[in-house]
Amino acid sequence: MKQLQVDLGHRSYPIFIGRDLLGHAEYLAPYIQSKQVMVVSNTTVAPLYLEKTLAGLQGFETSSVILPDGESYKNLHVLNQIFDELLSQRFDRRATLLALGGGVVGDMTGFAAACYQRGVSFIQIPTTLLAQVDSSVGGKTGVNHPLGKNMIGAFHQPQCVLCDTDTLNTLEERQLSAGLAEVVKYGLLGDADFIGWLENNADQLLARDPDALAYAIERSCQDKADIVAKDELEAGVRALLNLGHTFGHAIETGMGYGVCLHGEAVGMGMYLAAELSQRQGWISRSDVERTDQLLQAMNIPRRIPQDISVEQMLELMKVDKKVRDGQVRLVLLKTLGEAFLTSDYSADLMRDVLSNSYA
Ligand code: NAD
Ligand code: GLY
Repeated sequence: MKQLQVDLGHRSYPIFIGRDLLGHAEYLAPYIQSKQVMVVSNTTVAPLYLEKTLAGLQGFETSSVILPDGESYKNLHVLNQIFDELLSQRFDRRATLLALGGGVVGDMTGFAAACYQRGVSFIQIPTTLLAQVDSSVGGKTGVNHPLGKNMIGAFHQPQCVLCDTDTLNTLEERQLSAGLAEVVKYGLLGDADFIGWLENNADQLLARDPDALAYAIERSCQDKADIVAKDELEAGVRALLNLGHTFGHAIETGMGYGVCLHGEAVGMGMYLAAELSQRQGWISRSDVERTDQLLQAMNIPRRIPQDISVEQMLELMKVDKKVRDGQVRLVLLKTLGEAFLTSDYSADLMRDVLSNSYA
């Protein structure tokens, strides 16, 4: 078992990464304040891992709420199911919510914890690769709005994050690749050496080699923890974690939530960011090809689906949390392994890149 730390002063917390961690009380119990624990999961994950999770919570008064599965249910309406359960079971302000699932369950549970009685504790038990390398760490929580992805939410840090890598064995291949997109993101945005490691280990990762996966998760979590410790509320450097996301969120919203997986949309967005960075003269053609090949090696789609037009893309990209005074700011690449936030790019080149990047 490996332990990392997110350093945020009195709100610092550990990330535990390893095999067979579910069901072991010693990891969770120190981070639970009172007896009341509400496990939030979904209809896919609960049958697989709820029983084992509850076995690690003996001595606590546990309840569970099982949400419908899917990005299309990540909304305020479904969020109410968690509040209904908390209120009907008389959960008080010292209660702990425990998110058992992928990024959708994690974001919703965290947001419910941020809102319930103006804020209660929560713990992340991420069960997708994407959630283990990204969404469970850093305290971004929230839900989608029909007009914009993740537009309703709050920063609310968990008490701890427990990544049991054995849970990845039941993940569908498409979901594994979607998670690998966020892993590639850390290399491209600020960890050039990691890009080389990923190129050399793509096959092992796709084959779910436990050592390769554990290393990728640890390095991703460390990269993210370092950034979050510097800029918890995204006043600066944390925005770089949104590499590919302005394009990606537009694709997810435009296609309808859940059609394109979040990681897939981020993969397309990173390819588009690389193309635009090359047209701007910042990175080379071979850098773009290297990015494209790495994503391809991880079975991540890179081209925009035909169902969404350039005009739709441009309109939807204006609904982004990085927009300032109407200006769409993008995370682009200065070099492969160094991203930056800028509004200084050509609208004509952007239109050209989008037009020439269809599947
Ligand atoms: P997800 O939560 O929808 O999970 C993907 C699918 O895998 C679901 O069907 C889920 O039920 C299933 N699943 C989960 N664990 C499983 C397991 N162990 N075995 C079998 N099936 C399993 O999607 P995701 O990719 O985990 O997360 C995407 C979400 O995360 C998006 O909503 C995105 O906006 C959000 N996100 C948030 C942050 C953040 O910082 N908060 C960062 C990145 C992404
Ligand atoms: N996934 C982006 C962030 O956590 O900031």
